[in-house]
Amino acid sequence: MTTTVTSLSTDDEGISTGDPQASMTTAETTGGTTAGVLAARQRSAELEELIRKDPGRFRVLTGDRPTGRLHLGHYFGTLHNRVRLQELGVETFLIIADYQVLTDRDVAERLDEYVEDLVLDYLAAGIDPERTTIFAHSAVPALNQLLLPFLSLVSVAELGRNPTVKDEIAQSRQSAVSGLMFTYPAHQAADILFCKANLVPVGQDQLPHLELTRTIARRFNDRYGNGAAPVFPEPDALLSAAPLLLGTDGAKMSKSRGNAVSLAATADETARLIRGAKTDPERHITYDPAARPEVSSLVLLAALCLGRDPRDVAADIGDKGAAALKATVTEAVNEHLAPIRDRRARYAQDLGYVRRILRDGNEIANEVAQATLDDVRAAMKTLY
Ligand code: TRP
Repeated sequence: MTTTVTSLSTDDEGISTGDPQASMTTAETTGGTTAGVLAARQRSAELEELIRKDPGRFRVLTGDRPTGRLHLGHYFGTLHNRVRLQELGVETFLIIADYQVLTDRDVAERLDEYVEDLVLDYLAAGIDPERTTIFAHSAVPALNQLLLPFLSLVSVAELGRNPTVKDEIAQSRQSAVSGLMFTYPAHQAADILFCKANLVPVGQDQLPHLELTRTIARRFNDRYGNGAAPVFPEPDALLSAAPLLLGTDGAKMSKSRGNAVSLAATADETARLIRGAKTDPERHITYDPAARPEVSSLVLLAALCLGRDPRDVAADIGDKGAAALKATVTEAVNEHLAPIRDRRARYAQDLGYVRRILRDGNEIANEVAQATLDDVRAAMKTLY
């Protein structure tokens, strides 16, 4: 047994006095470029290189809260990247965080339908269940059990200053902050470490959680591991270059605002939504995200669908104005999504198959989680 370096109180003081994160504002953590974000970006570029050279050394875990159908923002922001990693040959676990979804709402929603929708969207986007394990964390008891030793390794103060959790509490639809909300970053560490994943593709807002996951892994290894063979890897965040797509009203894309084209929408619904999109009075179309966010977001959406440079797309439309821009976007989106929508409709006809995929994924995740829990028990000397 190695020395016990896990002293929560010492750590606390060390962090709370000099830590820039402690006083970070929302803008800095979600939109800005702090030193931590810059470092994560640089590390991500190195990781991309390593993935290309040797995809076999990585195990990815990433996932979503089931909150309803995925939209174009999810598609170009994360789904696309997951399919890319899968195609590169990286072993991937996709978690449906159905417990975590309880953290930001206190109404009972149709979770089973949301989970089904999420699996349908994954399959439609090109996630291949033969190569990627799709599972729900509530279906994996051994994963959830990791939460108990993990919680013993973090202080209440550390949980309390997580900037992403603070943001979510501010935006939450809950009347009071639940214990699950407060502790969900530690739960997320269990999501990641249960399969000893070493790579987590996430957006910038999830970096604080990744940092906590690394801290938990390190503290667990320090306290219980034997130096030569750590129980857990310290996983890296893989920041994807998520394009900034706005909703049709110019605000952040979100299902609840009704400003986003969902993957499952029909071509007509798509046309209607884009026709109503906010633009600006300037007739000449340019790509200038800082000065013309709404127009530029539409240009970017067309460019992503067409696999072209947004400046070229804007130049082609030029003086033809916003109506022509919207026609171009609608056609590009509908064409790009057509095969995805076809696949989605076909799978939706066979929900038995969709449920089987989830059951099979849950089974694999349970085996993996049990093996990790066995390692944890051995390390903690709680094998009875
Ligand atoms: N917290 C993530 C979100 O809100 C979802 C999630 C749960 C997740 N567990 C995870 C993401 C593990 C990456 C790794 O989007």
